[in-house]
Amino acid sequence: MNIVLGISGGIAAYKTPELVRRLRERGADVQIVMTDSAREFVTETALQAVSGRPIRSNLWDKEAEASMSHIELARWADVVLIAPATAELLSRLAGGSAPDLLTTLCLATEAPIAVAPAMNRVMWSNPAVQANRDTIVDRGMTIIGPEAGSQACGETGAGRMTEPDAIAAIVCDPRFTGEAAAGRLAGKTVLITAGPTREPIDPVRYITNRSSGKMGYAMARAARAAGARVVLVSGPVSLAAPRGVEMHSVETAREMYEATHEHVADADIFIAAAAVADYRPAQFADHKIKKSSADSVSMALVKTDDILASVAALESGPFCVGFAAETQNVRDNALKKLEGKRLDMIIANRVGASEGFDLDENTVCVYWPGEHRSFPTAAKTDLARDLVGIIADRYAVTQRDEAGGVSGSVVSLRGNNGS
Ligand code: PMT
Repeated sequence: MNIVLGISGGIAAYKTPELVRRLRERGADVQIVMTDSAREFVTETALQAVSGRPIRSNLWDKEAEASMSHIELARWADVVLIAPATAELLSRLAGGSAPDLLTTLCLATEAPIAVAPAMNRVMWSNPAVQANRDTIVDRGMTIIGPEAGSQACGETGAGRMTEPDAIAAIVCDPRFTGEAAAGRLAGKTVLITAGPTREPIDPVRYITNRSSGKMGYAMARAARAAGARVVLVSGPVSLAAPRGVEMHSVETAREMYEATHEHVADADIFIAAAAVADYRPAQFADHKIKKSSADSVSMALVKTDDILASVAALESGPFCVGFAAETQNVRDNALKKLEGKRLDMIIANRVGASEGFDLDENTVCVYWPGEHRSFPTAAKTDLARDLVGIIADRYAVTQRDEAGGVSGSVVSLRGNNGS
């Protein structure tokens, strides 16, 4: 594994020779890129000795660029790891600015980027730093730590860089690069819905829900990393489009239904992660509805078409994976949806004002006919990699069963429902 290790100027930089050793022990080739301020905390000589490679730091170094340009370096990397990442570096990553070699590499690479922040606890809890952290997570980067404990500044709290061995274990895990799943969906098309829908009431109001799109976008990235062509039909969200994914932005449940059916013929696998409105206003008012003297008003709602059920009902439709968003009786309700919508698999999550929706983490249990697997709370990006792995496994089983004429559990579930 080729790792570009970016080091920015924080006191935790003194741990980076140890980090390089831990990465190399796990078989990684490490190319170090330092920012100018990192040199204040750790020497080039020490880092060159442990990495066995000349250190890169200057975007304008003609000699270094001639042997491997920054674009070649961005392509060489299987992983870009930034440790430690200062508050300033997080801000540059969030803003997409690239004044030096390290930040330029981050814009130019298609490799996964992992960031291990380290800073004083008050700085870490500052809303500006937290907003930058959220932005880079939304863009698909992985944040490792920071940990709580005693800090170099003498304070105690969250802000310590995660220990080198733990960082090395995370980035060298084949699941981090998608290597474990790499190629397993090569040649397949995965169609995914994500985000909420908006059902207009009048030109200024609509009915919607709390979905941020994070889960669906993470599934899209993971499916892409597994080698699939990915078509993402997204409701209105404020996330950046995942790299290499074909995007179709929609607003209403009707538009999502139409965009899904426009692309379903090519799809081998359909994953419905969107939180689609079950009902929409029966009438759309052409002009803003005025406040009247009445103390209450009522609005007629009509059912929307169920996109997932309609795809699962197609004669030679794709392998269908639903999500079940439940506030109670999660298992029973999920199983009812698995059977009622005639799905191959359902991913159940508990939702509420502080669960499931809009968070970076989720807790899910996956059900397929006769079996289930639960996952502890984890980052949506990590969960998505595992979920795509299970989907690829189950899809392969159904393909084998169909090719061999064996009536597997998935086939029999469909049979039970009369198809
Ligand atoms: O977007 P995030 O903030 O990251 O939150 C993630 C999530 C909670 C939205 C996601 O994990 C999730 O659970 N998505 C499904 C939400 C939902 O609408 O669940 P449901 O139980 O109401 O619907 C069951 C399934 O039918 C879902 O796959 C849904 O996409 C699909 N459906 C529902 C209604 C409809 N008209 N068409 C559909 O396709």
